Amino acid sequence: MTVPQRWPLPTMAFGGDWNPDQWPREVWQHDITLMRELGVNLLSLPVFAWPQLEPSEGEYRTDWLAEILDALDAAGIGVALATGTATPPAWLVRAHPEMLPVRADGVRLDFGSRQSYCPSSPVFRAKVAALTTILATRFGDHPALRLWHVSNEYGDHISRCWCEVCAASFRRWLLRRHGSLAGINAAWGTKVWGQLYTDVEQIEVPRVTPGPDNPARLLDFERFCSDNVLELFRLELDILGELTPGVPRTTNFMGLFHDLDYWRFAAVEDLVSNDAYPDPGNTASHTDIALSYGLMRSLKSRPWLLIESAPSAVSWRPVNVPKAPGQLRAHALQAVAHGSDGAMFFQWRAARTGPERFHSAILGHRGEASRSFAEASQLAADLATLAPVAGSRVRSSVAMVVDWDTIWALRPDASLPAEISWHAEAYQHHAALHQLGLAVDSVALPGSDLSRYAVVVAPTLYVTSDAQAEALTEFVRGGGTLVVGAFSGVVNECEQVHAGGPPGPLRELLGVEVDEQWPLLETDEQIVEFDSGARTVGRFWAEWIEPSDDVEVVAHYDGRPLHDLPAITRRRLGEGAAYYVSAGLPLDSLTPWLHQVCAEAGVDVRMSANPSVEVVTRTDGATDYVFVINHAPTPAEARGPADADVLLAPDGDPPVRRASGLSITLPPFGVAVLRMPSTTPSLHHVHSIEV
Ligand code: GAL
Repeated sequence: MTVPQRWPLPTMAFGGDWNPDQWPREVWQHDITLMRELGVNLLSLPVFAWPQLEPSEGEYRTDWLAEILDALDAAGIGVALATGTATPPAWLVRAHPEMLPVRADGVRLDFGSRQSYCPSSPVFRAKVAALTTILATRFGDHPALRLWHVSNEYGDHISRCWCEVCAASFRRWLLRRHGSLAGINAAWGTKVWGQLYTDVEQIEVPRVTPGPDNPARLLDFERFCSDNVLELFRLELDILGELTPGVPRTTNFMGLFHDLDYWRFAAVEDLVSNDAYPDPGNTASHTDIALSYGLMRSLKSRPWLLIESAPSAVSWRPVNVPKAPGQLRAHALQAVAHGSDGAMFFQWRAARTGPERFHSAILGHRGEASRSFAEASQLAADLATLAPVAGSRVRSSVAMVVDWDTIWALRPDASLPAEISWHAEAYQHHAALHQLGLAVDSVALPGSDLSRYAVVVAPTLYVTSDAQAEALTEFVRGGGTLVVGAFSGVVNECEQVHAGGPPGPLRELLGVEVDEQWPLLETDEQIVEFDSGARTVGRFWAEWIEPSDDVEVVAHYDGRPLHDLPAITRRRLGEGAAYYVSAGLPLDSLTPWLHQVCAEAGVDVRMSANPSVEVVTRTDGATDYVFVINHAPTPAEARGPADADVLLAPDGDPPVRRASGLSITLPPFGVAVLRMPSTTPSLHHVHSIEV
């Protein structure tokens, strides 16, 4: 038998989750015929079919799945074969109730939804390994197999558990990390509040406590929980890697998911895939989702795959707003613009039962007559046109530091000077950069190659190690521009305040010392005045900082309580510059300030007159593909170079070519893709589209 080329597909992926196991056999062939007509080339299945694959202990039934895979192969449709391990069957849970997860308050969660397992459970892990082995052995050579889709959305419902088995694993994990009981006591600073442990068995998972918990214990628990789920993932990956070498393995991520350190997850899989559900009811959702797309393409510095998205409404928000006509396409092509080599949906056929019976599908309850079906059909044609874009990279000259230690440590109950969330600060900084027409990548510290970027932004880097500070210093010395937000360099990896106070290991690089954090009450009106004379009222946060002599003050506080003290500083070092922003800036002043910073750093900034129109460029080195996406329900205009080739024309009036340029009218949620020769091999953001 000839081994098929499994991955990448020769074109953009198009398809979605299909759950034939939930439908009678008569529906299968009908669905496959429709899929073929529509141009589906990739399906995820059978994600939740463990009870059908193993109806009782050790009784495996895979013939039905073989029949489906054969039929799909005959229709030329590939499969991201799910290992089916995301939800253990009732018989297994009832035989081993100890595998059900336990909450921090001691309540054991019952069977009746999905993901009803403790990630540490030995019996669960053994059964996962057995099922994965059965599927890999039976289907590893199947010609329809393109990818392994391992489990499903790890951590969606359960990423942590507070049971005794987890407590024992946590203790082992702590000993590995800190070396000994003395090491744990020292790392956690347990002499405070009489928390000293004299035997490792005294250490528990952080259950509900009378007062504030030890922050270092909480941070280690977050790390442990992420690593624990990673161990579960690796269990399946190792089996698949051994039995089916050459078949790529992925698990579907959930954007900027709080609970799992995706840098570590991406490092062990072959392809990054992601589920994205931007809220059609929120006009800013296309901006926010772009931040997570930047993470996805950066995790492996390669194209990724949008493996799940909604054709229209979801069923899990308080109000599930459907996508407006055209929005299915705009959302899908936004992901492609940001580096996804395809667009897939949850799900092919709408469920009539269960909690997702009101979730949209390509085939809604009206079948082929559904609006989603027509819109998906147009998207399929677009994706076929965009086949040459597959494999290309996104041009980006700006990156944001994404660091799970800081994400986890800045928890609302972490006994901080005031509530400060990495996500809120990251979205705020990203919104400003997005408005400047910049596609923002993500970087891990240390680890990522920062030299690819002109500007690196760390909205807040609360937990900072020496290695991170070194990587940032090297970046600045080499000519980079660094923007560090408030409350950075505060603690080390054990959540101990750096000796001498913040910004700890960043002190020399930034050239400032923080005397005190100065959180603001909502009623405080702390003015920040820029050297341009522009003034703004700071949001929620300020700091009393003392700059060193070689530091320039680019904005200062005006009026009480921090009158005349520096608010934003710049230190030039080597070829580059490092800014420290001690104030919480509102978006309308952060945006123009970052505009200036990026322009000075040589970034090709194009402030959009219409923030609803997004322009993103992918390049294969020889050709640039410029995506112009209108995210608004009203038409928009854009202008491109006169000689640009229109690869994908928007609906409605065709672009008009004049000597002065190409005029494009985008209908509501319209998308155009232009093709032009690459002007520069660097990935720096360069496009010539005026919006
Ligand atoms: C995802 C999940 C799918 C489906 C979808 C609905 O989180 O992986 O199985 O539930 O959400 O939006």
